[in-house]
Amino acid sequence: MYVWPSAVVLAQYLWFHRGSLQGKAVLEIGAGVSLPGIIAAKCGAEVILSDSSEWPHCLDICRQSCQMNDLPRVHVVGLTWGHVSQDLLALPPQDIILASDVFFEPEDFEDILTTVYFLMLRNPKVQLWSTYQVRSADWSVEALLYKWDMKCVHIPLKSFGADKDIAESALPGNHTIEMLVISFAKDSFGITSKAY
Ligand SMILES: C[S@@+](CC[C@H](N)C(=O)[O-])C[C@H]1O[C@@H](n2cnc3c(N)ncnc32)[C@H](O)[C@@H]1O
Repeated sequence: MYVWPSAVVLAQYLWFHRGSLQGKAVLEIGAGVSLPGIIAAKCGAEVILSDSSEWPHCLDICRQSCQMNDLPRVHVVGLTWGHVSQDLLALPPQDIILASDVFFEPEDFEDILTTVYFLMLRNPKVQLWSTYQVRSADWSVEALLYKWDMKCVHIPLKSFGADKDIAESALPGNHTIEMLVISFAKDSFGITSKAY
């Protein structure tokens, strides 16, 4: 399976913030090869990897990544975006959700945010750290963020050393990658603050 340029950029963001990951509950959604989740686990986070419950081969790839990287404590669960399943209900509250290159089909955006919203209800301080490859200037998740009471901050790649080749991978190369940190717009007093 292919490691997407977005995954390398998100992995670099995790590496940049490695000092704050120890003991954090981290869930990767649409994980595939799971590079960001693997880096988080190597940096001491309690990681759960997930991919569609309808595609067992993708879940096998997550498990293989754990085996190859000697991470037997990392759990792998089937989570299909937009489905409130037993596995989603059973998840402990998360601190960080990782999502690399999951915003590629506009018809999936709302399902992804539904799943994220559910996790925000469990822990209103959870942050979604997401990278995506810009494939069309017309696609934007920001109107949906407003609808789901979420806010986002764009993180310049340069601020975490991802604007040039990362770890000799020749990535992100000439792909345009964006990095977003998405969180609940409401604070603990129920006051909404939007930041776009
Ligand atoms: C473009 S790949 C990105 C994989 C990985 N995050 C990366 O960056 O290398 C999209 C991933 O989303 C998963 N996916 C697609 N539709 C999904 C859905 N409805 N629910 C959960 N996962 C889904 C795919 O199985 C695949 O692993």
